[in-house]
Amino acid sequence: MLPPDYRLRTMLESDFDAIAEICARVYPAETPYTHAELREHMTRFPQGQVIAEYAPAGSAKATVVGVHFTLRLMFKDFHIDDSWDVLTANDTFSDDNPEGHTLYGADIMVSPDHQHHGLAHALTDAARAIVTDESLWRMVGGSRLPGYGAVAARMSAEEYVAAVRAGTMIDPVLTAHLKDGWAVVRPIQGYLQHDPDSAGWAAVIQWVNPECPPPPELELR
Ligand SMILES: CC(C)(COP(=O)(O)OP(=O)(O)OC[C@H]1O[C@@H](n2cnc3c(N)ncnc32)[C@H](O)[C@@H]1OP(=O)(O)O)[C@@H](O)C(=O)NCCC(=O)NCCS
Repeated sequence: MLPPDYRLRTMLESDFDAIAEICARVYPAETPYTHAELREHMTRFPQGQVIAEYAPAGSAKATVVGVHFTLRLMFKDFHIDDSWDVLTANDTFSDDNPEGHTLYGADIMVSPDHQHHGLAHALTDAARAIVTDESLWRMVGGSRLPGYGAVAARMSAEEYVAAVRAGTMIDPVLTAHLKDGWAVVRPIQGYLQHDPDSAGWAAVIQWVNPECPPPPELELR
């Protein structure tokens, strides 16, 4: 459910600069997405590149405030602990496969000025709608664990993820994903090249389509 003054739509070329600005703010250690990369996402799977924009009533101006980039993967061609670079074919999305049964959430980000308004939840619901409309088995993602680095010396990633799932610890990203309906498969190491806050760890997360689940032998474990 979107709060008033916000709406969702698919990405346009005119959004590219605003997306790069959000990226620079939420991932300050990363090089923001280039126009060429964003154009590639759009060419491969336009309906999977969803934008949240802020368009207050009475204002002629709408501002891009969040994005969710997805692609369709034949997941049996990959391993559960593959990195973001592998799963996105180095951000070309050239591995998008129209026959794939899995919608992979490559990135979701919301401008810090508009976080905690339920935008990630709405963007996740939009991805869930792609899964159900296209009768896919599931969506899968790699959740950063930016709260883990600070406690990595005293607990394992498995213990940390279990505490976040139990609600006894809060992670700025995984907690939001869990509230948005994702479930943890398991933690993996080396998902992102530069994520010191997560101490190199991430949690593989998924949402399985109850109408069209994968066959048991292809479930993620
Ligand atoms: C993760 C991120 C996308 C969440 O965006 P958001 O729009 O603020 O998320 P939502 O408002 O939809 O929050 C979802 C739920 O998590 C909760 N939540 C969000 N941040 C939280 C926090 N720090 N602590 C506790 N709960 C939190 C919200 O209250 C909401 O729960 P509710 O439905 O019960 O109200 C955003 O923080 C972000 O862009 N982070 C930086 C980029 C990033 O790391 N992306 C993830 C890549 S894996």
